[in-house]
Amino acid sequence: MRQLIVGNWKMHGLGPALAELLTLRHALYARPPLADVLVCPPATLIARAVAAASNAFSIGGQDCHAEPSGAFTGDISAEMLKDAGAGAVIVGHSERRHDHGESDAMVAAKARAAWRARLMPVICIGETEAERAGGEALDVVARQIAGSVPEEAVASATVLAYEPVWAIGTGRTPTTAEIAQMHAHIRALLTARLGGEAGGVRILYGGSVKPGNAGEILALPDVDGALVGGASLKASDFLAIIEAAAARS
Ligand code: PGA
Repeated sequence: MRQLIVGNWKMHGLGPALAELLTLRHALYARPPLADVLVCPPATLIARAVAAASNAFSIGGQDCHAEPSGAFTGDISAEMLKDAGAGAVIVGHSERRHDHGESDAMVAAKARAAWRARLMPVICIGETEAERAGGEALDVVARQIAGSVPEEAVASATVLAYEPVWAIGTGRTPTTAEIAQMHAHIRALLTARLGGEAGGVRILYGGSVKPGNAGEILALPDVDGALVGGASLKASDFLAIIEAAAARS
């Protein structure tokens, strides 16, 4: 299974930021990566990002509505992302769950919308700092998987991203032992659900992945890639993380 490195630009990036994607494209053409690469820019840049990527890597959305169309001012459907050239969409990011009150059921509906539009959903889960401190991290993640990964999930069309909320944008990460424990836990939960097929679900780690720690994180068992926020905004940093994935394969 090839690792998957996803860049999540969040609400960063105007037209000039596309230069980073051109740099990325040239580097990946010159040295084809051993990992799959996906960049999720703001929706306004998706069509231009698809052109800039020119198939050297994929482009995705950061969120979608569960419905294909309707009176939902300001929202964007999975079909619209697909129409703009996206191949994937992040759903259930903690910033959506916390800032926009998204429940597990809403996240599951968005994952279904992604499949309906033939997009790969990257379903995010992860505990808060208080939940980890309270010894509840494993249970919280189990509950989120039960609620936000639809029953009909197919391994080859599903990516999970474990992102401890307290590690996002803070420069702090769990220990490698804690990451390995959580990823093994997630794999076991998926196996209970999907049987042997669960081995084909890519489980990404996200939260303060940087060039300096990507190597040790991506080398861990059951870590099948990374979801990268801040360090995906600069092509040089993102490339260093992609190289770290390639080094393991
Ligand atoms: P970060 O963000 O890499 O800046 O911590 C990760 C994410 O929110 O997906």
